[in-house]
Amino acid sequence: MKNIAIFASGSGSNAENIICYFAQKPDFCVKRIYCNVPDAFVLVRAKKYDIPTTVFDRQAFCDPEKILKQLKEDDTNFIVLAGFLWLIPDFIIATYPNRIVNIHPALLPSHGGKGMYGHRVHEAVIAAKEQESGITIHFVNELYDSGSIVFQAKCPVIPEDTADSLAEKVHRLEYKYFPQVIEGIMEDVLSK
Ligand code: GAR
Repeated sequence: MKNIAIFASGSGSNAENIICYFAQKPDFCVKRIYCNVPDAFVLVRAKKYDIPTTVFDRQAFCDPEKILKQLKEDDTNFIVLAGFLWLIPDFIIATYPNRIVNIHPALLPSHGGKGMYGHRVHEAVIAAKEQESGITIHFVNELYDSGSIVFQAKCPVIPEDTADSLAEKVHRLEYKYFPQVIEGIMEDVLSK
């Protein structure tokens, strides 16, 4: 069994989409949702699908005896960041080399970095008068949004776009591509 852990901080619509996708794949299992925001809606979504959750603060996150221990207990093979806003501690990255991916709602290397998440990213894209935006799926390293890029998909930005309308276009790309890209990467790295 290939076991996935999802880390999320907010609404969790990507997390739910990933849960539903892998529910149809007998070799894959979304084992647990990890969340650093106690009232995040992703926790409600997890409950709907009976997926166990772990809510943690920064202290627990930075303690190898807590989150990393839980990941190991669950026999986690792969970690997906789906709207998760904290940097991953070095000891977790070292335990999961090329086994942690993040999705960013723009075309990196533009419009990434600390503090660039959700609507802030779409506002920056519009302010920069970009003609295209999209999604970037990348491996996670010890810096924000700077691990090697695995996949990008684009959408047009038109002058009438608002952060909301752009978010909608980007979310459509995320729902379409993120689960299948995760599956492809997992098939690849876990066979090595
Ligand atoms: C997604 O658009 C994701 O790309 C973005 O947060 C949103 C979470 O939505 N991630 C970042 O901005 C990371 N820098 P969701 O909670 O509905 O899946």
